[in-house]
Amino acid sequence: MIIVTGATGQLGRAVVQNLLRRFPADQIGASVRDADKASGLAAQGVDVRVGDFADANGLAKAFANADQVLIVSADKLGEEALRLHRSAIQAARRAGVRRVLYTSHMGARVGSPFPPADQHAGTEAELAESGLAYTALRHGFYAESCLQMIGDDLTSGELRTPEDGPTSWTARADLAEGDAAILVADRDWNGTTPPLTAATAITMAEIAVIASAVTGREVRHTIIPDDEWRDAKVAAGMPSFYVDMLLGMFRAARCGDFAATDPTLETLLGRPPRTMRDVLSAAIA
Ligand SMILES: NC(=O)c1ccc[n+]([C@@H]2O[C@H](COP(=O)([O-])OP(=O)(O)OC[C@H]3O[C@@H](n4cnc5c(N)ncnc54)[C@H](OP(=O)(O)O)[C@@H]3O)[C@@H](O)[C@H]2O)c1
Repeated sequence: MIIVTGATGQLGRAVVQNLLRRFPADQIGASVRDADKASGLAAQGVDVRVGDFADANGLAKAFANADQVLIVSADKLGEEALRLHRSAIQAARRAGVRRVLYTSHMGARVGSPFPPADQHAGTEAELAESGLAYTALRHGFYAESCLQMIGDDLTSGELRTPEDGPTSWTARADLAEGDAAILVADRDWNGTTPPLTAATAITMAEIAVIASAVTGREVRHTIIPDDEWRDAKVAAGMPSFYVDMLLGMFRAARCGDFAATDPTLETLLGRPPRTMRDVLSAAIA
């Protein structure tokens, strides 16, 4: 039995759908906070269990009889994220799970200016100390996160960003398919995976060129000071903690933290991963 947490979220749901193409539904479980949100999965025959990272005892019951558990990182920041992921690791150990997989990030490193990357490094260290067999899936940066961040600028025709660095933006659907391939692989993936990325790393300036070609309208790229970008986002109503997190992304990108590309995801998919142009074209279609 493979159990996927976060199966009511975008990545977890897509992982389950990929598993359903390879396995009978009765070998797939979904650990979710709200069973009502997973009624579609239950209708497909998936074994839906209720579990919250905040309740390690309850979660251990949700993980019962699992050979592998995919812990999809929670959409939380800071100590809260570390605490929730620690609790999920403890629950897996209590449940006697053979292997834990965790959705980490390609830029995971202690002290990263991008807070989630620092937290992923913390959780990876706890996995290594847990005594469990584990695989930290070092996901490329979601291409969809990029579009969410810059979508309004693309519409206005001027992409105004802090200085950035090349980033191997990767489609979430490809990462979900790659994760499912690792879950069903004969080989055990021990420790951290290579970065699971699209084939190229591109800058915001290059994204503006792609957006111009895809939309047929010129999109210019302008670099603005960090503080000016921050003030504009806060003035537009974005919560300041969130703006700081995004600014951290630009700062980490400048250090080259998201510049790596690696063929592993292509091998897992058996085809080239989607490009940023593919994702952008699909988003505006
Ligand atoms: N690689 C990247 O570039 C990138 C970008 C953005 C995010 N991420 C990370 O990847 C994760 C998955 O992405 P996504 O797009 O699927 O995000 P999502 O759609 O927001 O899904 C997050 C999932 O986490 C679950 N969750 C939150 N708190 C939980 C808790 N206490 N216990 C158990 N489950 C909990 C949510 O459950 P509910 O459905 O009940 O809310 C939801 O299913 C995110 O949560 C984030 O950590 C990575």
